[in-house]
Amino acid sequence: DFSWKLPDHPKLPKGKTVAVVVLDGWGEANPDEYNCIHVAQTPTMDSLKKGAPEKWRLVRAHGKAVGLPTEDDMGNSEVGHNALGAGRIFAQGAKLVDLALASGKIYEGEGFKYIKESFDQGTLHLIGLLSDGGVHSRLDQLQLLLKGCSENGAKRIRVHILTDGRDVLDGSSVGFVETLENDLAQLRAKGVDAQIASGGGRMNVTMDRYENDWGVVKRGWDAQVLGEAPHKFRSALEAVKKLREEPKANDQYLPPFVIVDESGKAVGPIVDGDAVVTFNFRADRMVMIAKALEYQDFDKFDRVRVPKIRYAGMLQYDGELKLPNHYLVSPPEIERTSGEYLVHNGVRTFACSETVKFGHVTFFWNGNRSGYFNPSMEEYVEIPSDSGITFNVQPKMKALEIAEKTRDAILSRKFDQVRVNLPNGDMVGHTGDIEATVVACKAADEAVKMILDAIEQVGGIYVVTADHGNAEDMVKRNKSGQPLLDKDGKIQILTSHTLQPVPIAIGGPGLASGVRFRKDVPDGGLANVAATVMNLHGFEAPSDYETTLIEVVDN
Ligand code: 3PG
Ligand code: CO
Repeated sequence: DFSWKLPDHPKLPKGKTVAVVVLDGWGEANPDEYNCIHVAQTPTMDSLKKGAPEKWRLVRAHGKAVGLPTEDDMGNSEVGHNALGAGRIFAQGAKLVDLALASGKIYEGEGFKYIKESFDQGTLHLIGLLSDGGVHSRLDQLQLLLKGCSENGAKRIRVHILTDGRDVLDGSSVGFVETLENDLAQLRAKGVDAQIASGGGRMNVTMDRYENDWGVVKRGWDAQVLGEAPHKFRSALEAVKKLREEPKANDQYLPPFVIVDESGKAVGPIVDGDAVVTFNFRADRMVMIAKALEYQDFDKFDRVRVPKIRYAGMLQYDGELKLPNHYLVSPPEIERTSGEYLVHNGVRTFACSETVKFGHVTFFWNGNRSGYFNPSMEEYVEIPSDSGITFNVQPKMKALEIAEKTRDAILSRKFDQVRVNLPNGDMVGHTGDIEATVVACKAADEAVKMILDAIEQVGGIYVVTADHGNAEDMVKRNKSGQPLLDKDGKIQILTSHTLQPVPIAIGGPGLASGVRFRKDVPDGGLANVAATVMNLHGFEAPSDYETTLIEVVDN
């Protein structure tokens, strides 16, 4: 019979304060000038590394170790925090969509049948990230979906693209648009009226997260639904090429544009009777647009015109909110997460980050579930992020504020676990600004120090790790690891995450003597961390969790 009660650990005590610190975008790579973590002064993380191999090691944070389709898939925060919190490896959105498309089951599901009802009279709109990054969406999935929808009766299709440059190289948008335009031309040759209707850079248009800036979603709404934008072009390829000519233009931040016909009229506003699919599988940056498309009552911005549409997500983005109500592929069912177990076993929990990563240590950590398991046992604190800036301008972000709040939570002795995400390495790494990323890494290291000092004061334990790589490698490399140059001889900046492993360190005065990393889990990954943390709270992990990374030797 199922029980939430965890068995006592045979050797480890309960009642220690455990700090779980996740450095976002902090992988381990060879030291060179493009490794910002190496270049930055990071005395705290350096000192933890000296504890290897007993108190410091590397764990896998990409590919199959976190439920992604292949070993070529870089890690990301969604799958990373899911694995950290759930203690098991679940096939993730990218993989589930692959399977549903390959088997054709996607076209038999409730979600597809629902949108299909609009195909006779209305237009099918596909909105999402045009990229092969595999973090939020994949171009090949969009291509298959376009083909499948037209074979299943869609006669008029409009694609609303969001350019990437964050999970893929800046400038790659042009090639992706060319590929998509080719596909749409082929559909047109078969009699399907298919076109790109609008676009914009993902960080400027539509893909905000955790309600950091509704203006982003509004800009998308205006272009996609109302057919209004400051820039109008006859084709998307022209749009992207022209907009990229602006000084400092960048795929992530392209302004919104609409495609117009010869009379200057938008070719694809969303109107009554249409169907809409948001084709990203990842949730965090789709929740806000999903609310705008689905909710009757909505006051985040003036939608001006609210078309009566049939809307489905590629996945359901929030299971609690049932958002959206209709979806093409069922999301992974991540249940019995470590957070839920620990709360059932009396572990009082504090979680904190700033807005742009807040849902990572709450929503993703708890298996894509928002809210508390037990409000009397938990406190989640969100520090407001600066909005409307790129984080290379403020590379320290709110690291100090997060560390202070966490320190105070530790010293209050009101919590058994404090869990934080320090965003700097990732958020600044994504800007591709190497100098700023160095500053970011130093700030994150200082935040770790403040948290470890507080743990020292209360006799607690720390676990310091990361969700995936980013700041440790800022350049695109060839197979033998040499930096790649572009046609002007400049290095190709890598804004994306990496395939690198991440560190994990344990320690603190509360760590029982004899605790060390086992040697027999060499392939350990992020999913092994939950059992490890449960042990440090004095419990054994459930038997179906990935095994613990630690052992206790008698001394
Ligand atoms: C983003 O959404 O910012 C990037 O695509 C992925 O970054 P994250 O996985 O670190 O959030
Ligand atoms: Co990132």
